[in-house]
Amino acid sequence: MERLEFIKLMGTGTLLACAGCGLVSCGSDSDPVPANLDLNLDLTLAENAALQNVGGSLSRDGLIIARLSTTSFTALGRACTHQGTPVNFRPNQGDFFCSAHGSIFSTTGSVVQGPATQPLRQYRAELSGNILRVTT
Ligand code: FES
Repeated sequence: MERLEFIKLMGTGTLLACAGCGLVSCGSDSDPVPANLDLNLDLTLAENAALQNVGGSLSRDGLIIARLSTTSFTALGRACTHQGTPVNFRPNQGDFFCSAHGSIFSTTGSVVQGPATQPLRQYRAELSGNILRVTT
């Protein structure tokens, strides 16, 4: 195999591998929320530890869930309604921020600042003992 041929072949392989990584990453961040959502999170488990303290948040099943006080939570669809970038909870500001173009959403999902014009969908989040149940 000629050196130039080898470099071309390796370049194509690397490009395809990188494209695959990008697709996987993008897909997992913007997975749609299941239609009949019924999620039970045991807050004593390490995987849910982020929700043990006020201001904590975690992402799961296309949702972002944040603890607003000792007794209240909010659960929103995580994909920004502008172009789908996952939003993040900002506990100090008490809102959800999309870093792609700067949209800001309230804790109920309403638009505080565009360019997004549509709210994030809010789901029911109820705490019973150590179990947080999130439903449609
Ligand atoms: S994708 Fe969120 S503001 Fe554009």
